[in-house]
Amino acid sequence: MKKHNTPDALSTVPAEPQVPAREGLDSAWNRVVGRRAFLKGVGVTGAAALVPAALTTSGAMAARKAALTDGDVAILQFLAAAELIETDLWQQYNELGGVDGGNASYQAALSNLDGDMPQYIADNTDDEMSHAAFLNAYLKSMGAEQVNLDAFRTLPSSKATGAQQIGRLTNLQKLNVDTSWYTRYRSTQNPDLGATFPQAITIKNEPAIPLNDTETPPGTSQPVPPDSTAASRMQAIANTAGFHFAYIEQGGASLYTSLSLKVSSLEVLRIVVSIGGVEVDHFGLWHDKCGNAVAQPLAGVTDPKTGLTFPDFNAPPFGGEQFQTNLILPEPASFIRKNLPPVSVIRPSLTENAGAVATIESFTADLLFEGQTSQFFRTVMALARAADAAERRVH
Ligand SMILES: [Fe+2]
Ligand SMILES: [Fe+2]
Repeated sequence: MKKHNTPDALSTVPAEPQVPAREGLDSAWNRVVGRRAFLKGVGVTGAAALVPAALTTSGAMAARKAALTDGDVAILQFLAAAELIETDLWQQYNELGGVDGGNASYQAALSNLDGDMPQYIADNTDDEMSHAAFLNAYLKSMGAEQVNLDAFRTLPSSKATGAQQIGRLTNLQKLNVDTSWYTRYRSTQNPDLGATFPQAITIKNEPAIPLNDTETPPGTSQPVPPDSTAASRMQAIANTAGFHFAYIEQGGASLYTSLSLKVSSLEVLRIVVSIGGVEVDHFGLWHDKCGNAVAQPLAGVTDPKTGLTFPDFNAPPFGGEQFQTNLILPEPASFIRKNLPPVSVIRPSLTENAGAVATIESFTADLLFEGQTSQFFRTVMALARAADAAERRVH
């Protein structure tokens, strides 16, 4: 690889005396991407003279592609797929319950968990969209193939007021929400050292978004406690969403941690840990909010259709370290080896528990992909296996 083919080479080109170094760099880059108008009056002639003749857009792209291992490409492609999946589910929540969402009753029920829930839902949705768009743009910038799951947007939308009638990648209308993350993060044990954790609450075949306007009319008021069958149903749906938000994002926290250990390029590592940190941020937020579904004054709601009850986690037979709802920060747990002191960490992080395949399997058990085609599963599992198979290569 010729040194002058790399973007880094730009920083080694000496600036002419009348052009400050930073300005020279910016001008050179803008010439490369063809934004000549931007250069007017900032020493075009001098700056243009600094641009290595070989630094064309295609030349730079070829050089960057050579810098990425197949493993890094596989990690980025799987993460792009995971973010497209996250974006799809968050968009469904946002259309109905976000700050600009269209279902007032759902928004009100979510707001019983926290008055800022609709805003947080909108912001989380924006984050996922930016993650997916950035990862695909980065792949393209490196000459690698982007990920597009549009062919699999075939699942039905909710019929409730506020939902767009478009095909979806994910199902939120009947979920088995794994809530063992709740007891896991309150435990001193680590799944990577073989520990298993009970469900905090068993949520089976529950919707996380309203299904239609018949059972949950969008204008229904949502007092605490709910005062009608429709209000109870909607509150149980919103409570389920609260636990599902945290389930999804703790999965993202573990996934990014797991895949970061396989990255070779420092730039790709920067991307993976920087986006991964935001997944952790999301998880912490939702962990706090969903606890309000199982704390006073909201605790005690029963879904009139399924019989699911959200009990008071702060009162007997619950309460204590395993359930107290304001214990949202990770309890120090065993890590690496059992003879080391407990430490507050993201867990799991091993490939078999937290990697790409484990994530798809967990989402499948969640019923997030209920109704998807076998082609969809083949596609995402192929991406997942390739990402998990990546190996860190340091030169
Ligand atoms: Fe994300
Ligand atoms: Fe996320």
